[in-house]
Amino acid sequence: IWLTRHGQSDYNQHGRIGGDPELSPAGEEYAKHLAEFVRKNAPRDQEVAVWTSTLRRTIQTATKITRSPRTWRALDEIDAGVCDGMTYDQVRIEMPDVWAARSADKFRYRYPRGESYEDVIQRLDPVIIQLERQRSPTLVIAHQAVLRAIYAYLMDRPPSECPSISVPLHTVIQLTPTAYGCEEKRFALPPHVEDQGAGG
Ligand code: G3H
Repeated sequence: IWLTRHGQSDYNQHGRIGGDPELSPAGEEYAKHLAEFVRKNAPRDQEVAVWTSTLRRTIQTATKITRSPRTWRALDEIDAGVCDGMTYDQVRIEMPDVWAARSADKFRYRYPRGESYEDVIQRLDPVIIQLERQRSPTLVIAHQAVLRAIYAYLMDRPPSECPSISVPLHTVIQLTPTAYGCEEKRFALPPHVEDQGAGG
């Protein structure tokens, strides 16, 4: 199982949360490197299943591998509700209550008119079930919060740890199921970009 965030988006560049932005030039470059990585590392005799969210930045990241990935709404980024499109600094200054409540309990906090990590975990059930049934290599191109939740499940980490799991941009996390869980390897692919942690 390969897990990766989409390539850097316009929103990532400006530290904005959510939205449906396109890839930045660096993000497009990552899409090429990712395709190369898959070509080099996929077993010759097996087709790689490519799953994305319904958002443009994940579909664009898959384009160099396939024009028709399987798109899942369940893989869409955590819904930031009224904060969608804002930067973290804007949230902190313009919505101090939201900022304080989320900082106090990032796992359970639900954005007004949006979601919490707990909500994301719930909606990921069908994806996880299908992922466990997969017999061929599967590349999941999704978003920071969603990948944190999938990673925590597969690596048997407590769900409450999700919000602090490191899932950097332009990195492929390779998880190989074994008898006792999953073996993990991480591959940082170029281009290196400053990860502002937002806009998953
Ligand atoms: O808003 C999108 C981010 O990917 C979620 O990150 O839970 O650390 O704010 P955060």
